[in-house]
Amino acid sequence: MSKFKELNKININTFSKMKSEGEKIVCLTAYDYTSAMILDKSGVELILVGDSLGMVVNGLDSTIPVTLDEVIYHCKSVKRASNRAYLVADMPFGSYHVSDEQAMENCIRVIKETGFDAVKIEGGKSKAPLVRRLTEAGIVVMGHIGLMPQMVNIMGGYKIQGRSGHEDMLEDAKALEEAGAFAIVVEGVVAEATTKISESITVPVIGIGAGAGCDGQILVFHDVFGLFDDFVPKFVKQYADVKTVISDACESYIDDVKASRFPAKQHTF
Ligand code: KIV
Repeated sequence: MSKFKELNKININTFSKMKSEGEKIVCLTAYDYTSAMILDKSGVELILVGDSLGMVVNGLDSTIPVTLDEVIYHCKSVKRASNRAYLVADMPFGSYHVSDEQAMENCIRVIKETGFDAVKIEGGKSKAPLVRRLTEAGIVVMGHIGLMPQMVNIMGGYKIQGRSGHEDMLEDAKALEEAGAFAIVVEGVVAEATTKISESITVPVIGIGAGAGCDGQILVFHDVFGLFDDFVPKFVKQYADVKTVISDACESYIDDVKASRFPAKQHTF
């Protein structure tokens, strides 16, 4: 990496500074080289290779079947494209649940093999001892509380959290902060609760479906750019309709090939 790129690379301290200065943190997911390059060059501050790849890349019904090898594969592509953004790898279901030893080994593997800056794990208070161990070993951890997609089977669906009080979530956030998490994703939570959490801790709260009172926002690439419309959650704002752009272009390509308009002279050796 060149000196210039190194100087511009976002690091763990950038986020606490942004929170203390009231500057919102912009995060998106990405899963491949091309999309990560676009996000990195556009100025997205944090790129997450989320286990949401199971749905938007692999067409699965949930994140549960996603494997560690799959996450690592996508992280490697994203890493090659990213010079400035902070890179976070989502630890998939089963990769940190068996024991702290298993979790440590898998997180170390992710950091070593991908060159990513941090890992993300779902869970509150119960995961705080693991977050502490990882942090003490030099692994930067992002927490994830509220609606935790890896718990979908226990929750019986994707349910908005915090409607009947938020004391538990506040305790979760505080426990993760104390254990050393550098930031916490709060997903699918009523806005009032997230605001309270953000005001109560010093590490940044990154919201998804959690209202405007967060220190930053994260969304899934395919949702934001209108590539995946099997289901568009209420909290998503689509900033482009790329699916329509691609499908219109694809129809033009089909028409051209069928009518022998492509390849033309300029495309021919
Ligand atoms: O997997 C994912 O994409 C995530 C974000 C939605 C936070 O965990």
